[in-house]
Amino acid sequence: MSIVAPTAENIRFAARVVREGGAVVMPTETVYGLACDATNDAAVANVFSIKGRPSENPLIVHIGGLDWLERVAASWPKVVEELALRYWPGPLTLVLPKCKDLPDRTTAGLETVAVRVPDHDVALALIDEAGCPIAAPSANAFSRLSPTTAEAVAPEIAGQVPMILDGGPCSVGLESTVLDLSTKTPQILRPGGVSRADIEAALRMPLGIVPPPAVRRSPGMYQRHYAPRAAIRFVDSLSNGESGLTFQTATGPGQIHMPREPRAYATILYDALRRVDESGATEIAIELPPEGPEWEAVHDRLKKASATP
Ligand code: TXA
Ligand code: MG
Repeated sequence: MSIVAPTAENIRFAARVVREGGAVVMPTETVYGLACDATNDAAVANVFSIKGRPSENPLIVHIGGLDWLERVAASWPKVVEELALRYWPGPLTLVLPKCKDLPDRTTAGLETVAVRVPDHDVALALIDEAGCPIAAPSANAFSRLSPTTAEAVAPEIAGQVPMILDGGPCSVGLESTVLDLSTKTPQILRPGGVSRADIEAALRMPLGIVPPPAVRRSPGMYQRHYAPRAAIRFVDSLSNGESGLTFQTATGPGQIHMPREPRAYATILYDALRRVDESGATEIAIELPPEGPEWEAVHDRLKKASATP
């Protein structure tokens, strides 16, 4: 694998790889993504295969701005412009009717496409230079932790791409919010970087509650996902009175302090879990974060990370 600085020359090289049907790893503000040309059926098939991702799980398409939307979506409600103005570039993914030119494989055969504008200069430069919408699932093997640094990209992914563009640690640290606007009442299919309260305020209406069958509509809702190797045990408070998580390694106890603010907690969560795995620990005691709507995305990831396989 080669982790490289995002120089103009390296971005040009990566863009050529993408245009020619290959895949590279690119940084975004949420997590690193395995990027390919969303309009190229074979390139998308290759990304599914590198990730070991079930073909029924559609990809998010990354575009350069609202003016690109017509290249991937067939139509959109007026509210999209308002949401885009407020949250794009940013960690809000919108599910909209798909445009017919986009390969069915990208959207896993669905009539809808999930699309967002990433808030990262390197991702935006790559999209611009490649000149095509970029499909990018998180650059982790299926059901494992998403990487939030270039070094965290697992060898099984890194070994299959010519280049990992290093954009530094991701500022948001967990994935985008997936908002379905293709249904009568908009609903969140995956909580993430933009909170439910913020979206409800922007839409000036309450969001729908996703009924259980809709689980299949956003396979980010698979029960076990975002999972470290170590088993997670939740505790009300850590035995040493500190805040965060503790684990046992062969050479002694380990501890990672976690912030008491939801965004700051989210930013370092995956990296903390990855560090526990690297220590060789087999169990993590995690102090339960506070309840409350602003913690929704953190609780969602912790729940999935701790689900039994
Ligand atoms: O923050 C993110 O969204 C990152 C970065 C790289 O952009 N990407 C990401 O992609 O998390 P991925 O593939 O790991 O997750 C995509 C999620 C899945 O839960 C998938 O089921 C859902 O988006 N999704 C994609 N297309 C959809 C569609 N048409 N309808 C419903 N859900 C969709
Ligand atoms: Mg993912």
